[in-house]
Amino acid sequence: MKMRTVVTVLGTRPEIIKLSPLIPLLSERFRHILVHSGQHYSFEMDAVFFEELGLPAPDYTLAVGSASHGEQTARMLSRLEPILLATRPDMVLVQGDTNTAMAGGLCAAKLNIPVAHLEAGGRSFNRQMPEELNRIILDHISTLLLAADETAERNLLAEGLPPARIRTVGSSVIDAVERNRQHARRSTILQRLEVTPGNYLVLTLHRSENTTPNVLPGMIRALGELAEEHTIVFLLHPRTAAAMRTCGIEMPRSIRVSEPLGYLDTLRLVEQARALLTDSGGLQEEAGALGTPALILRNETEWRYLVDAGRHVLIGNTCESILAWARHWLQPEALARLRAAPAPIRSGASERAVAAMIDVLESIA
Ligand code: UD1
Repeated sequence: MKMRTVVTVLGTRPEIIKLSPLIPLLSERFRHILVHSGQHYSFEMDAVFFEELGLPAPDYTLAVGSASHGEQTARMLSRLEPILLATRPDMVLVQGDTNTAMAGGLCAAKLNIPVAHLEAGGRSFNRQMPEELNRIILDHISTLLLAADETAERNLLAEGLPPARIRTVGSSVIDAVERNRQHARRSTILQRLEVTPGNYLVLTLHRSENTTPNVLPGMIRALGELAEEHTIVFLLHPRTAAAMRTCGIEMPRSIRVSEPLGYLDTLRLVEQARALLTDSGGLQEEAGALGTPALILRNETEWRYLVDAGRHVLIGNTCESILAWARHWLQPEALARLRAAPAPIRSGASERAVAAMIDVLESIA
């Protein structure tokens, strides 16, 4: 078979992490071109991950920066199209549910270039989330749907997508954790944050539905109150910092705030935490692989398998539900039950995903 060309489009922190175990495999098997949209651009949201994960510098950067959804997506489409026309890839790979992934997939599909979508079929069934719209659009224009688990596969089938397009490969987050976990033990983050193993909670919060003026104040109130009872380290996402300023919310003094951390520091901090409080998708799976229970600050999750297994729990996003459920689940016996639940963690998704891409490309004359 002639050497095929694959373009991978990424642009945000979770995409860099989740695609990191695939990138070396893609470079071995294909003429591989990496395009960075520039959706995330600051060192701690972007460059630190390239450094720590040993990734090659992108071949092209679209430098779209932050903007409204329409503007950001439009910039991505208009800047990516000439690159796809010039490089003429046989396939474009995108991951997940960000504006970058959706724009990358849409731009390719309109040029009749087959799209592979990693993490296909994740659904929250909440169309108020920009990520949900991005996922639905992407799945319906992709040629190869790389689903993480059977729930995602069922979601795709229920939307009428043909079984021949779907491969259930697992989640590449697990591969990334397994490769980097050992290396993360050298991190000095616990000393730097002055916390001791098992004696603190890690908090992340940035989803757009949680950073609105109706929702965010109640969440911060609950978390501030909880931080009087437990040490809470809040890894503050720039979106959340901006939303707090806009809503005029003061950070409760009980909460210890940190800048977003690099990947290795995050792995180490989560691994040694008593529990994780989060609305992030990637962190739910990372915590699952690291053996740390997660209390999810949402009413639904696309990563159901860890909740179904009894490892993680949903505690909602109102002041009352967070306080009531966090107090319940943070009791030692309840936490021990979550920790003891066997988590169905499967590695090897990255190899399976690349093998499926090779299969599809071989079937295209
Ligand atoms: C995006 C994704 C979300 C993902 C998240 C991970 C979409 C619709 N959402 O949300 O699914 O979970 O990334 O972080 O694509 N900013 C910086 N530095 C940066 C990047 C952003 O300061 O490097 C600030 C900007 O002020 C910006 C805000 O963060 O307005 C939000 O960034 P944006 O790219 O719009 O989306 P995220 O909230 O990061």
